[in-house]
Amino acid sequence: MNARQIIGIEPQLFIQVIAGAAEIEAPIRGYAKESWDYLREFHPQMAYFVGGDFDAEQGVPVIGIWEKEERQHTPVMRKLYQQLTGEKLQPKPNAVAGYQPGANSADAVYQHLCSRISTEWSAIAVYLWLMAHSTGELQLAIAQLLQDEINHLAKFWGFSRWAFGSSAIEHLKASMGDIVGLVKHHKRDRTNGDEILSIAQLASQLPRAVELGFAFARVMVRIHTWDAELSQSFLKHLFGPALSGAKQ
Ligand SMILES: [Fe+2]
Ligand SMILES: [Fe+2]
Repeated sequence: MNARQIIGIEPQLFIQVIAGAAEIEAPIRGYAKESWDYLREFHPQMAYFVGGDFDAEQGVPVIGIWEKEERQHTPVMRKLYQQLTGEKLQPKPNAVAGYQPGANSADAVYQHLCSRISTEWSAIAVYLWLMAHSTGELQLAIAQLLQDEINHLAKFWGFSRWAFGSSAIEHLKASMGDIVGLVKHHKRDRTNGDEILSIAQLASQLPRAVELGFAFARVMVRIHTWDAELSQSFLKHLFGPALSGAKQ
């Protein structure tokens, strides 16, 4: 794997995005705990899928499938960074907003799911963009992460549809607001120095903004098509009987 596998873009820019992605992916343990707290009463099985069991007494911690997959991502990005630059990257993890005690009303869960959906969606769009600018082994390494993120987006999206039955448009609007928040947050929270590039900085360059905007939109179009195929009976089969009194 080497920098010659970066195509159609200045290698430096590509590498800066890899460094940014390594930071956005951490700290997964904190993110998993946050989701687990929101979901544990609302839907224990979904809480288990995301965060395992934080109540497990001593012994081996029970890690959720989502966390198991996500925790691979920062190391992969760091490895790619090192192979492309010959230097080690020390990503600074994000501050996790954290669960607000008592905030497990249906509305708080809904807001939390929207934020997870927007994060998975952003990851997919950025990884697609990285794949469009790479080839060979480099592209394959990113494709593996992309597969996880698509899987996660489908899970969170399907679960939100089952729990809240909201139209895709509502999700989209909520997610859009979240992405702006996420980008602002990252800008404030970032490691200093030129080696890290935020999505906001990337989007400030017109050709890149168009490419990235296209990637975000394509993901959303695909999700819409898939959303239209999701039936209530299938969602019920996956997640159980519909909730009574949930926000619709
Ligand atoms: Fe990830
Ligand atoms: Fe993910």
